[in-house]
Amino acid sequence: MEEDLPRRRARCEPGTDAAPGPHRALTRATLPDRTRRSKMGMLEGKTALVTGAGTGIGRGVAERFAREGARVVIADRDADAAAGAAAAIGAAARAVVVDISDEASVAAAFATLESDGWAPDVVVANAGVQLFGQDAKAADLDLDVWRRTLDVNLTGTFLTVKHAVRSMLRGVDEAAGGGSIILTGSPTGLNGEGADFTAYSATKAGIHGLARTVAAAYADRNIRVNTVVPAYTETSLVTSISTNPEDRAAIIGRIPLGRPGAPRDVEGIMVFLASDDGAFATGSLFAVDGGMSTL
Ligand SMILES: NC(=O)c1ccc[n+]([C@@H]2O[C@H](COP(=O)([O-])OP(=O)(O)OC[C@H]3O[C@@H](n4cnc5c(N)ncnc54)[C@H](O)[C@@H]3O)[C@@H](O)[C@H]2O)c1
Repeated sequence: MEEDLPRRRARCEPGTDAAPGPHRALTRATLPDRTRRSKMGMLEGKTALVTGAGTGIGRGVAERFAREGARVVIADRDADAAAGAAAAIGAAARAVVVDISDEASVAAAFATLESDGWAPDVVVANAGVQLFGQDAKAADLDLDVWRRTLDVNLTGTFLTVKHAVRSMLRGVDEAAGGGSIILTGSPTGLNGEGADFTAYSATKAGIHGLARTVAAAYADRNIRVNTVVPAYTETSLVTSISTNPEDRAAIIGRIPLGRPGAPRDVEGIMVFLASDDGAFATGSLFAVDGGMSTL
């Protein structure tokens, strides 16, 4: 396995020594020396793709990953938002326009990244939608709204995971594979958090199950898959709640720590799961939600 590393490095960043981390099984020999690494970022040498990183939680995570030394791919269907987020990070970032609900679009994004030497070691499948005002109690829910929610949140997350796994299996050592995939879940996938959140909650419960199944399927290839559950977080996704004082107070009232979440609240756990420190974590669900889903 060790003998293969230079081949992957050359593929990732021809002609430089600052190559991203190869997809490889971590062995005692390849695990970083944490005392020597102490002044380095947690993600030095890694390349991470974050979907939905044009704004909100995904953008916060991508910016933090870059501060931790990773190269980051801002993957979003909103071209302007993706370009803006990548420009704010600088040379360590690039924007890729992708619609996660369209398999051809997802496959093309991974193919482009691989051919450009930006094959990701870390993929955060984070993009999602919540169709407030359309999602409804089950008896009132239009099939079209159900399908549009599933198309992005569940099918889109599946397609991201599918092509991430394929890309990681094409890494340096076909036998070993290797990589970290992180899905963004939700308290709504664990509890009955909102009577009108039928389609959205179903997708998030599906995402939690998807993560465990894929984690079990590819553990022998050292591909780790985990879910992070944020709390209610005041991004553009939830404007209809955050701008309504009553609704806002009600949802914050369900968070034992007494405040909304912020992207920074989940950045740390995402960094851990993306990093070599998280090398033994797979198939797990990490709620960083102020106690919303657990207390
Ligand atoms: N905000 C919350 O309260 C909250 C709580 C728990 C979980 N989440 C989850 O966190 C994730 C991020 O949400 P956010 O609050 O940052 O939302 P956001 O609306 O701020 O950002 C979502 C991003 O995803 C992109 N996107 C949407 N559909 C896409 C598609 N088909 N292909 C590619 N990109 C697409 C959007 O363009 C946007 O940039 C979502 O999965 C959401 O369900 C959010």
